[in-house]
Amino acid sequence: MVKLLTKSILALLFFTSVSAESREYRFDYTYNNEIAGWWKLHRIPGTWNEARLRCHAEGAVLASPLNEHLLRVMKTIVATNSLQCGIYSGIHATLSKGVYNSVEGVPLSRIPVSWAPGEPDNYENNESCLLLIPNGTMADVNCTQVFPYICYKKKTQSVVQTTCGTTDTKYFLEPRTGSCYKFHYIGQTWHQAYMTCAAEGGHLAIINSATEAQALKELFAKYPANTIMAKYKDPALVGFLDWSKDNTWFTIHGETLDEAGYNNWPAGQPDNMKHGNQGEQCGGLFRSGYLDDVWCEHLTLPFICEKSPDSLLTEE
Ligand SMILES: *[C@@H]1O[C@H](CO)[C@@H](O)[C@H](O)[C@H]1NC(C)=O
Ligand SMILES: *[C@@H]1O[C@H](CO)[C@@H](O)[C@H](O)[C@H]1NC(C)=O
Ligand SMILES: *[C@@H]1O[C@H](CO)[C@@H](O)[C@H](O)[C@H]1NC(C)=O
Repeated sequence: MVKLLTKSILALLFFTSVSAESREYRFDYTYNNEIAGWWKLHRIPGTWNEARLRCHAEGAVLASPLNEHLLRVMKTIVATNSLQCGIYSGIHATLSKGVYNSVEGVPLSRIPVSWAPGEPDNYENNESCLLLIPNGTMADVNCTQVFPYICYKKKTQSVVQTTCGTTDTKYFLEPRTGSCYKFHYIGQTWHQAYMTCAAEGGHLAIINSATEAQALKELFAKYPANTIMAKYKDPALVGFLDWSKDNTWFTIHGETLDEAGYNNWPAGQPDNMKHGNQGEQCGGLFRSGYLDDVWCEHLTLPFICEKSPDSLLTEE
């Protein structure tokens, strides 16, 4: 009886730890014992640099076949998903021609790579990124070509979920709105910022009330101009835009600003200032708490991501 009880307790412990493990990182990553970490396949092809940035924004790295375990798992994912053209690995020479390292900094000479016939050929002196082809061999390709890729998150002690349902400790829960926010003081363009927030499990902040505007204004105030690494220090990018480029503003979730609950511009805005023939079609929030229209692509600005605490949880 005692034995049986111990056994079932052990079994219970085992199963809870397994299911907790698969939930621990985020719903879109899968745990794999062999590689002691989580992986996610990005089927939508990207350039190598997009792949690297996307994995980074998800808190992971662009996966490389650093050892036989990673190679086997990556090959299996490629085969299971019929990715005939192969996938990008994190092994690259984009920083100095011919000097190959993985994204984590492991030199190529320490990675057990077998090459496809005739590779690496550095064709037209233009190939600095390594592709893993389905049979597990590698080829160098032009980094601006697009391929699917896998992001990898190694399991370490520091992979711990916060009250915001993420391992990213820069998100904090704002009790006045029930949302979590992260202020990015390193500037990006509006479209890059949109990707970054999405990859972090959130979206560019959507302001639904004067209270939320006030909370974001207070957050912005914690980052004085000298802490911001961007071309301009004010405004910060948020989640609305002039979707049809005719001065009608919608949140990124498709509501008008009035429907969303905050439509407060200072006198003279939006002014649709021109840069060449590009007007201002993206949304910003001034330090003063008022809205602003900004260039989507021409410059980098700080930005605010918003995330609901359960956005990355596995649905049960
Ligand atoms: C790629 O090749 C083109 C033409 O051969 C050359 O002009 C360009 O500088 C090369 N790019 C790189 C990154 O080496
Ligand atoms: C791997 O695939 C490449 C491209 O299809 C092929 O040329 C090569 O012979 C294959 N190598 C092995 C070891 O199967
Ligand atoms: C590499 O890709 C870029 C962009 O697609 C292109 O401009 C360049 O010519 C390519 N180089 C080669 C050698 O294919």
